[in-house]
Amino acid sequence: MHKKLVAPSLLAADFANLQRDLEMVNQSEADWFHLDVMDGVFVPNISFGMPVIKSIAEHAKKTLDVHLMIVDPDRYINTFASLGADNLSVHYEACNHLHRTLQSIKSEGMKAGVALNPHTSIHLLEDTIQDIDLVCLMSVNPGFGGQSFIENTYQKVSDLKNLIERKNANTLIEIDGGVNASNAKKLVDAGADVLVAGSFVFKSADPTSTIKDLKEKIA
Ligand code: DX5
Ligand code: ZN
Repeated sequence: MHKKLVAPSLLAADFANLQRDLEMVNQSEADWFHLDVMDGVFVPNISFGMPVIKSIAEHAKKTLDVHLMIVDPDRYINTFASLGADNLSVHYEACNHLHRTLQSIKSEGMKAGVALNPHTSIHLLEDTIQDIDLVCLMSVNPGFGGQSFIENTYQKVSDLKNLIERKNANTLIEIDGGVNASNAKKLVDAGADVLVAGSFVFKSADPTSTIKDLKEKIA
């Protein structure tokens, strides 16, 4: 059984006080930093890019989990590796040759992740699951923080867990969007390994203890 992880999403951080927020996560019980890269084409929003990630990498002391919400992600795989990404997730919906993309990510020394939009079936990963280190199940439509959790995600988590076990794969299940204290435990019970939390952490009165509480809930 994998250790259950919490990955605060910096999309909800205070960008004018980014170093402060990075240090908060460094000192907290959080496991990973989740970084959302949006191109304004794959999703209807633009977040941050290379120079910001470079600065984040200089201060962040934990795993950098980079979630690409961009078209044609193959163009930037080596760039994200050199910026210091540990995990690189691409969207299933943005890849014409997913198997090749996964191999490229791994050949750059990163863990390979695949993100699925809420409408995308986990069954589409039947033939690639053994090549995937991390599946990021979107529990909101990607593009924005602070949206409400889509309930159908629980079923997707347990279906994906079954697929992983049936194929004898070693893939982590990550949940991204609308995660909070009331769905965290249920998600982990359904088979989730990593919970991304943006607004719930950074908009709370005491982010450090919010992270601690989330970790306790899923321990
Ligand atoms: C949404 C992003 C998420 C987002 C989660 O497109 O992929 O990582 O930051 O934010 P919350 O936790 O606020 O839903
Ligand atoms: Zn994300």
